[in-house]
Amino acid sequence: MLLMPDGQGQPTATHRSDYQPPAWWIDTVELTFDLDPAKTRVLNKMRLRRNPEVAAQALRLEGEELNLSRVLVNGAGTSFKMDGSQLVLENLPEGPEPFDLEIFTTCAPDKNTQLMGLYVSQGTFFTQCEAEGFRRITYFLDRPDVMASYTVTLRADKTAYPVLLSNGNLVEQGDLEGGRHFAKWHDPHKKPCYLFALVAGKLVARQQRILSRSGTEHLLEVYVRPGDLGKTEHAMNSLMASVAWDEARFGLPLDLERFMIVATSDFNMGAMENKGLNIFNTKYVLASEATATDTDFANIEAVVGHEYFHNWTGNRITCRDWFQLSLKEGLTVFRDQEFSMDMAGSPSARAVKRIEDVRVLRSAQFPEDAGPMAHAVRPDSYIEINNFYTVTIYEKGAEVVRMMHNLVGRDGFAQGMKLYFARHDGQAVTCDDFAQAIADANPGSALALQLEQFKRWYSQAGTPRVQASGQYDPEAQRYTLTLRQSCPATPGQPHKAPFVIPVELGLLNHAGQALALQLEGEQTANGNSRTLVLDGAEQQWTFINVVQAPVPSLLRGFSAPVVLEVDYSDAELLTLLAHDQDAFNRWEAGQRLLLRRALQAITAPDDSQDAAILDEALLQALRQVLLDPQLDAAFKELVLTLPSETYIAEQLEVVNPQRIHAVREAMRLQLALALHIDWQSAYETHQASGAYRPDAASAGRRALAGLALTMLCLGAQHSGDSIWPGKTLQRFKDAGNMTDRFNALAALVGCGHALAAPALERFHTLFKDDPLVLDKWFALQAGASDRAGHVLPLVKQLMAHPDFTIKNPNRARSLIFSYCNANPGAFHRADAAGYVFWSERVLELDAINPQVAARLARALDRWKKLAEPWRSSAREAIARVAARADLSNDVREVVTRALAEE
Ligand code: PHE
Ligand code: ZN
Repeated sequence: MLLMPDGQGQPTATHRSDYQPPAWWIDTVELTFDLDPAKTRVLNKMRLRRNPEVAAQALRLEGEELNLSRVLVNGAGTSFKMDGSQLVLENLPEGPEPFDLEIFTTCAPDKNTQLMGLYVSQGTFFTQCEAEGFRRITYFLDRPDVMASYTVTLRADKTAYPVLLSNGNLVEQGDLEGGRHFAKWHDPHKKPCYLFALVAGKLVARQQRILSRSGTEHLLEVYVRPGDLGKTEHAMNSLMASVAWDEARFGLPLDLERFMIVATSDFNMGAMENKGLNIFNTKYVLASEATATDTDFANIEAVVGHEYFHNWTGNRITCRDWFQLSLKEGLTVFRDQEFSMDMAGSPSARAVKRIEDVRVLRSAQFPEDAGPMAHAVRPDSYIEINNFYTVTIYEKGAEVVRMMHNLVGRDGFAQGMKLYFARHDGQAVTCDDFAQAIADANPGSALALQLEQFKRWYSQAGTPRVQASGQYDPEAQRYTLTLRQSCPATPGQPHKAPFVIPVELGLLNHAGQALALQLEGEQTANGNSRTLVLDGAEQQWTFINVVQAPVPSLLRGFSAPVVLEVDYSDAELLTLLAHDQDAFNRWEAGQRLLLRRALQAITAPDDSQDAAILDEALLQALRQVLLDPQLDAAFKELVLTLPSETYIAEQLEVVNPQRIHAVREAMRLQLALALHIDWQSAYETHQASGAYRPDAASAGRRALAGLALTMLCLGAQHSGDSIWPGKTLQRFKDAGNMTDRFNALAALVGCGHALAAPALERFHTLFKDDPLVLDKWFALQAGASDRAGHVLPLVKQLMAHPDFTIKNPNRARSLIFSYCNANPGAFHRADAAGYVFWSERVLELDAINPQVAARLARALDRWKKLAEPWRSSAREAIARVAARADLSNDVREVVTRALAEE
């Protein structure tokens, strides 16, 4: 791979195989900050010693954008040199004895637009150190396997910065001269520097005291800007639920007297698990029924849980190096998914959550795994670690943990977690250490027996395909299932060895009843569902005493992150859709049918049949789901939502994005018209009564009512009827909560009705002072279904709106990403104007915030699949970005990989 030089020289790749333990340990760190937005002074006093297990060598500390003023060893001046961004000290005391190293530097938080290191957001200081931001605060061994004990003193103007926070416990505070004050914090737990944090500013807190199971008292706090206190109740409830859940499910208690969450509106990611001082994007903290949707409420619960769970999986046991990122992220996503499912309660609510998670996996991770940025869950190399906070590390990583969980069972997994903590608490470890602990706690399990092969999930990229075919012998009453696996080549990995793939399955008869399962060689039948473990390229299983040709229900609950190919007949899929005992596969059968119809229409010679893509049998089956009184509203909403344009595109060799968009829109219209009466009754029977509650069941009812309204407006717009648009506007005006209000607005915008414009204006007037709601306002317009190319000019116009600023990541995402990354029908224009806009914004953002720019840069990852003229113009746009000499390493890595011939 050829890489162009950046401003500081050749970007170099870091390789996992080059790992060396640190030559030095840092036992304690005392940091003193004199906080000033223009020039903050940082005194860093460390106690260091040589690592006796590593050959003696110079100390090399990382630093970035720092002004160095003094270096002292044991209180006396010393010689040092600079090597690129490293501070190198060669004449340090010999021998194993610890010594003191003091480093004075300054930095400029108010110039920090990257939001890594120490920065200012709305007059408040925040830090972000993961992965390599601590080096922007002071010179340090900025790597996760160096764990130190921190004492932090913050000094600042008392009026401007009344609240001074850092990790751990407050040990001292008081006034200083000149209107300044100080606070001193000590963290009782050793930690890697990426978990360091400080916050200083005008904030207020919701406080809550709780008692753990063992009777210890803890103080929980959620800090926000003064006007936002009323929007913190749900975050606090979520935090309390998280503490209780981790104790109940995994026996993991809160290990701190004080646990703080602080919200900021300027944040690159969702949130950060700094020890005892989590810093959150306001999007995942602030909620009120008037301003946040059900999805927001659910996301807040999940993210608060996620960060809290990191306290054990990530902080107590951390990563040896950044290649092990999924050790903490995959496991913690698995834990937050389980938390959300346990909170949702009923089996069908759990299935809904599972379907939502699989949708994310398929529409974001599968494309990543098939594109130029494909990488293993534990990658072998990277140029810029920030580019590897991906859906593969997070979501596929969680699937790998889930497969382990399923192979050893829920109790076995709990035992495995126990062993993991018994072995590794306080250490920086690897993905191997985790898998080993789960396997060792479950000797004899399929995981333990095939551990080395199972771990290919960590080392091989790409989404495996599993082909299934069944053969029924009516005479012998035998059913033989053949499963074959393969995995496409990915960059740097042309050949793949077989994975260990757990395939949960059941067999249904044609009436949809579950059949008892008895494999050849078994004495009796045993249950209706079981897990087969596919570990070879091809394997067969024979079921006996099968009295009828069965319909197989395969990969239940999505038991492995694979693409399953089965030659189902339409009739078989209709049986599964109507009857499968596994709710996930019920949904899946419907999606297979819808996808099949979409692909038929897309590949048809012309669009003359577009008004009748869905056949009567499928419409009838969908109608039955919609009207079934036994099914949850949330589940119905999922079944009746078509596969996304992105997911459809992934099924095709050559992609015409406009044709996909047109077909999917035609299908939506057909669904709207054919089920008109049913949508009407669904809308009317799913009106909420009583006070707003964000629980899964109520949210499901609102989601289905929202979909119904969208469909009714689509149908009305087509037929020219004005009743439903009028009702929708009324609903928009009267809605008692943001979910209903926003769904009504989205229904009007979605069908392009004339009433959309005044509704959008009214929405803006109502919420002009609430940034998170304004983000929704921008996102809705940028993500709207494209009609005759209307979205791009609108997006450009909104870029000039007084409320737009590209410097705030949430706002940039709400407008630019909603268009480029989430609206394929509008983005992939035949005139290439969408791509030109994209390349301009990537460059504009790169000068401000490379991390955000690099995520936008990924919008064209799949350009090689595009048909002409899109393919050539996409390549041209990427090449235009790549031609710039002054790109960040972040964007450079993304565009270089995109253009690579592989
Ligand atoms: N570690 C954070 C999380 O997943 C994500 C994050 C990464 C935040 C890097 C900021 C910077 O919980
Ligand atoms: Zn995380």
